Amino acid sequence: MTQRNSAKKELVYKRIDSCKEVVTADPNRLHYHIMPPVGLLNDPNGFVFFKGKYHVFYQWNPFETKHGIKYWGHYISDDLVHWETAPIALAPDQWFDKDGCYSGSAVVKNDKLYVFYTGNVKDESNNRESYQCMAISENGITFVKKGPVIHVPEGYTAHFRDPKVFCKNGLWYMVIGAQTSKGEGEVVLYSSSDLENWDFLGPLAGSNKNGLHDFGYMWECPDLFELGNRDILIISPQGLKPEGYKYNNIYQAGYFSGKVEYTHVTYDHGTFTELDRGFDFYAPQTAIDHTGRRLLFGWMGNAEEGESSHPTTNHHWIHALTLPRQLKWRHGRLFQYPAEELKLLRKNEMTFNEVNLSEQETKLPGLNGNVFELNISIKEWKATSFSVVVGKNNKISYNQPTNTFSFQRKSFNGDNLESRHCLLKELKSIRVFKDTSSIEIFVNEGEEVFSSRVFDEISTNDGRIYFFVNGMVTADIQKWDLNQVCK
Ligand code: FRU
Repeated sequence: MTQRNSAKKELVYKRIDSCKEVVTADPNRLHYHIMPPVGLLNDPNGFVFFKGKYHVFYQWNPFETKHGIKYWGHYISDDLVHWETAPIALAPDQWFDKDGCYSGSAVVKNDKLYVFYTGNVKDESNNRESYQCMAISENGITFVKKGPVIHVPEGYTAHFRDPKVFCKNGLWYMVIGAQTSKGEGEVVLYSSSDLENWDFLGPLAGSNKNGLHDFGYMWECPDLFELGNRDILIISPQGLKPEGYKYNNIYQAGYFSGKVEYTHVTYDHGTFTELDRGFDFYAPQTAIDHTGRRLLFGWMGNAEEGESSHPTTNHHWIHALTLPRQLKWRHGRLFQYPAEELKLLRKNEMTFNEVNLSEQETKLPGLNGNVFELNISIKEWKATSFSVVVGKNNKISYNQPTNTFSFQRKSFNGDNLESRHCLLKELKSIRVFKDTSSIEIFVNEGEEVFSSRVFDEISTNDGRIYFFVNGMVTADIQKWDLNQVCK
């Protein structure tokens, strides 16, 4: 199919140029996270290792800081840390994707990169149509669109999107996020021998299947892979109501673990576990690399989240991706580790061994900053509660009698403080990645993760890091400043 898209792409490049000064002048611009050069970023897409390099694409509305007609932006890296901007990968310029090149994935076949995405189309009355489309690239940079390979089957609404393709026992499979005509979220499975002709195999999991009841009206961004001898299905369901500390954001992202029977198209799975307990995490996507690691990026944002009042919108951009994380199956659940390569960012190491933190506010000499990694490893616990405050308003704490781990930040709208929590049997370690306006907290080596955007008043934030303990905690503490690699 010929590409008529250069005009559309040119407009985006013009927009990037005309906003560059305002965007880069934002003190909240992150130093080591993937961000859009202008406009709104949402889901990570097409995460893949191809010809010796990591590629990650992202949902992108370059023209506004709200959702709209989406492009695929593109970054490339040798090491998951230093990212180069690549040309726009997909623009919404064909009849089958004219209202957005929505989320999707990438696979490598015969040295070529195949991407699958959802073409979003709306008619004059705003009725939606969805096509699962394919595009191919030989160099990983320019893509030739091949058009739709799957149409919405009988029994589903046009909320049918986010194809994730993988290979298993010599056959290609695709999972798609869907909504049944009855308004239930589902994941459906397709297979193909050539990536072009796809057979509908049936629903694999859904909001009223495998012991679930009314578990969401739409399941977005499915991802199915094997890890630790089990099949993990990640989904981003919409329509879950808060249950205590669970499901507190507008939409959730989490996983099931179990066993897929590919011949019978069944998935026997356990309960849903949220992947992240912070304020800003949605639509994650994984890829396996040449070292065999299962890596994950998430969108460090969430839908409809105060887009109009988000502090960065004055600077014509909004949202970022999380840091890349490695997934491992341990002790009956997924653990998430910051990718090992992030150590490349470290400089100015500070180490405090066997520090006794007790009743009074403790501030360690020289321990401060706004862009850093902080590791706290607990050696001895004789306390009821422990807190570390980062900057002005970001409080990380553990309450032992209630087994509650919490993160508190200042809301984007007004001055109120807001918190997210999870239950945790014991606190062993906290690893914090603080960037100018984000924080990612890995608890107990990735047993729980909290990702959030944070906006301290820049003028009054002195980069303090301090501790409060009820009782006494002995800890080893290490801190590094982190290099700026993104602008
Ligand atoms: C998830 C999502 C996807 C869709 C994309 C559109 O955030 O709604 O389901 O493909 O965003 O940008």
